[in-house]
Amino acid sequence: RAARLAAKAPLTFPSVPPNTLDTVVVPNGYDWSPLMSWGDPVLPGAPTFGIDRQSAAAQAQQFGYNNDFTALLPLDGDDDRGLLVCNHEYTNEELMFRGWTGASTPEQARIAMAAHGMSVVEVERVGRTGEWRRTARGRRAHNRRIHVGTPFRLTGPAAGSELVRTTADPEGTTVLGTLNNCAGGVTPWGTVLSGEENFNQYFGVSEAVTDAEQVAALSRYGLPSAVTSTSRRFEEVDARFDISREPNEVNRFGWVVEVDPYEPDAAPVKHTALGRFKHEGANVRIAADGRAVAYMGDDERFDYLYKFVSRKTFRKGSSAAARRHNKTLLEDGDLYVAQLTGDSPAAEIDGTGTLPSDGAFDGTGRWLPLVLDGESMVPGFTVEEVLVHTRLAADALGRRADGTVDVRQAPTKMDRPEDVEPNPVNGKVYVALTNNTQRGTTGRPGVDEANPRTANRHGQVLELTERRGDAAADRFTWMLFVVAGDPADAGTWFGGFDKSQVSPISCPDNVAFDGAGNLWISTDGNALGANDGLFAVAVAGPERGHLKQFATVPVGAECCGPWITEDQRTVLIAVQHPGEIDGASVDNPLSTFPYGDMPRPTVCTIWRKAPGVKRVGA
Ligand code: FEO
Ligand code: CA
Ligand code: CA
Ligand code: CA
Repeated sequence: RAARLAAKAPLTFPSVPPNTLDTVVVPNGYDWSPLMSWGDPVLPGAPTFGIDRQSAAAQAQQFGYNNDFTALLPLDGDDDRGLLVCNHEYTNEELMFRGWTGASTPEQARIAMAAHGMSVVEVERVGRTGEWRRTARGRRAHNRRIHVGTPFRLTGPAAGSELVRTTADPEGTTVLGTLNNCAGGVTPWGTVLSGEENFNQYFGVSEAVTDAEQVAALSRYGLPSAVTSTSRRFEEVDARFDISREPNEVNRFGWVVEVDPYEPDAAPVKHTALGRFKHEGANVRIAADGRAVAYMGDDERFDYLYKFVSRKTFRKGSSAAARRHNKTLLEDGDLYVAQLTGDSPAAEIDGTGTLPSDGAFDGTGRWLPLVLDGESMVPGFTVEEVLVHTRLAADALGRRADGTVDVRQAPTKMDRPEDVEPNPVNGKVYVALTNNTQRGTTGRPGVDEANPRTANRHGQVLELTERRGDAAADRFTWMLFVVAGDPADAGTWFGGFDKSQVSPISCPDNVAFDGAGNLWISTDGNALGANDGLFAVAVAGPERGHLKQFATVPVGAECCGPWITEDQRTVLIAVQHPGEIDGASVDNPLSTFPYGDMPRPTVCTIWRKAPGVKRVGA
């Protein structure tokens, strides 16, 4: 089926060549336009943006900074209306505030707090094209800003536990705000999942932490224990961001959050059953028996790939009762971490990216349970501890009493798992492993068949096939689909396709699929010297591996989103942190995207101009 669909929707667009232009470049025959930029009004009555007229109150009503995950969802069955849902991962104070010198004032800190989080924005089609714009007036009932002050309900086994109780929330059930929301996904029941990633950077320490166990837990998440003040200074305006004063607040970030964009008054939730780590995002597939399976990456060098399998099963249909039930699926279930084993002799994985003699970086894998049937599977950890200190629990699998590790029982340390997403057409799961410049370097873990390059600068995309195609299986096979880099480099691989015809790609980050199951990959941190961008590649049929660049983003930016609308007529990209370059500031902007004056993170739509052709990728 996948091959048939792919053949019906070939990626025939002319590739965009690598470049360093300060704009978005799309293929000949396509056009693009900005849809929402930092500061654009979201809530009715929001003030117009101005660099010199910022306030926390204004920002809380305007589009936030650094958009990452992006979705355009259907609204009221009307082809010409939609809901844009977008994450605001972090802030670039040096590009937001004139004269910023490395430490925010209290008002700047409050503005940055309001610029984080998520936005829901009603949008409408422009004419009969694939272009979209913000709905200017009226009919904006769904518009919503979620930021550091928005109450979230904690769900699942760790909700209410001692590990998440604070002075302001002695019950341990309500958290204010979400931080560093990176990638995400749309569930089969129409809600949006978003990963809280590098939450560690928002916490300071006023008095050194000395308890050894607490120091170890902080350190494993990159959190400070020595006296530290952050450049954003959240800890100055809100004591909960000072670990010395509120030690459990850190345990209330690092979760997958779920937002229902169709119910603007419903409190968003944080699901503790999905574990706490530097969540890139989460994407759900329904298993053969109806359970919901969420695939997740922990984006850190040498961290792990995870999946959650719900206890209850998915109810079909869009009735209020079915939606209400489905919104509880991620509250209760099993949590697993991945172990990948190569099938080639270790001696053949030489660190250069040269394929082993069987012609593939591939092998088998197991999902190792951390929590199963409500019980902890990790000796020495309660269920609550597994969920709050998930990285430490995963590290403990296979660890012997003498501290050595039995690799046959341990999860596999990966090259920074970013977006992990099941392909709705072929059911295989695609994992963006963005890079790992420390792989195989002194004192760090060496190469293995799934992470086969020393000092890996360009990353790889792994294709995972669950046993019998069942998302709830505990065994799988895997192979590297793309070993990224300059195709002229011998250590690269594009699914076996003729490398003279593919585009160079580096640092795969977010992924998405079009209706034919073609894989779309956006990049962050291109180590080949050109700007980041968006790529598309068939995963089935004779074109499998024919990767082509579809768009490039401005200087200093990473490319996020991506999202292909259900009608296949529009690609959304999020231009995140344009102009994020050493030495750049408001008064020395090194990008002026998109309006020619200063850099503003911006979600863009891209569409095919040719009349009659209604599918992007053609
Ligand atoms: Fe926010 Fe892992 O990228
Ligand atoms: Ca092999
Ligand atoms: Ca990312
Ligand atoms: Ca990224």
